[in-house]
Amino acid sequence: MRGDNLQLNEAGELRHFLSIEGLGREHLERILDIAESFAVLPGRQVKKVPLLRGRIVTNLFFENSTRTRTTFELAAKLLSADVINFNVSVSATSKGETLLDTLRNLEAMHSDLFVVRHAHSGAAHFIARHVAPGVSVINAGDGWHAHPTQAMLDMFTIRRHKGDFAPLRVAIVGDIQHSRVARSQIMALNTLGVTEVRIIGPCTLIPAEARSLGVHVYHDLDAGLEDVDVVIMLRLQRERMEGALLPSAHEYFQRYGLTEKRLERAKPDAIVMHPGPINRGVEMASEVADGPRSVILQQVSYGIAVRMAVMSMILGARGGEA
Ligand code: CP
Repeated sequence: MRGDNLQLNEAGELRHFLSIEGLGREHLERILDIAESFAVLPGRQVKKVPLLRGRIVTNLFFENSTRTRTTFELAAKLLSADVINFNVSVSATSKGETLLDTLRNLEAMHSDLFVVRHAHSGAAHFIARHVAPGVSVINAGDGWHAHPTQAMLDMFTIRRHKGDFAPLRVAIVGDIQHSRVARSQIMALNTLGVTEVRIIGPCTLIPAEARSLGVHVYHDLDAGLEDVDVVIMLRLQRERMEGALLPSAHEYFQRYGLTEKRLERAKPDAIVMHPGPINRGVEMASEVADGPRSVILQQVSYGIAVRMAVMSMILGARGGEA
């Protein structure tokens, strides 16, 4: 281990992928470069390669997912791994089996890699601390804490559209407080050296420690969108809110919903992103979500190549023969 960074082995290479925190620019650029090698084929995003033949990847999702679980499964299959989708709702977890006992049993089935989503912050780190030496963990979203592969597919999307990170101003809009995606994006954008990260939202949805994250805080959407290159909209995470942090959805849309008119404040070639799932008419209008500047579905597609890159790096099968 290097220092207390659980994610890196002695050689400074990825052993687990738990958060952007603790990784350097060279690690993030390596992920993006390897993802690029998987995403080059014209007419088809990726083709099947034998890099992980004989390896077993277990999707361990204790929380719902459409994009992340499915693209991890597809990415593992495109790398020729065998994939187990552990179905929590029909598992012995409902009979009182502990997380660690579940883990030990899945390890006994020879899993090489666990892809973990859990409602509790720190769950992926906990599992990474307890797996056998040859087993790795990827955090697919833990509570409010981190969603590092989402951040990396977002960085991949930005790099594909904008090239260099250095001149970019990026606005992240909405429920920052409860967003693991925003925390990971902010770290990745700052590590990759953008000019400015802005976070925009009502006081109740901006974390108290926001400025220590290296961002500029705006409460006025129009002001915050001025001259930005990238607009990232976030979902209101109502399932993680306690009490009345917000007015009605209608009022929220009036103040913070992205419309074509409001988007005129951003640069003419600004792109619009959203990690999904979208609440149409709450954080953004359909005309924007489906409009010419939206790259939302490209984010989903790029997630396959980025997750292939991370899995191939972690399991030691370097390269991209796509
Ligand atoms: N972006 C994201 O994490 O989506 P899912 O919840 O569908 O995986």
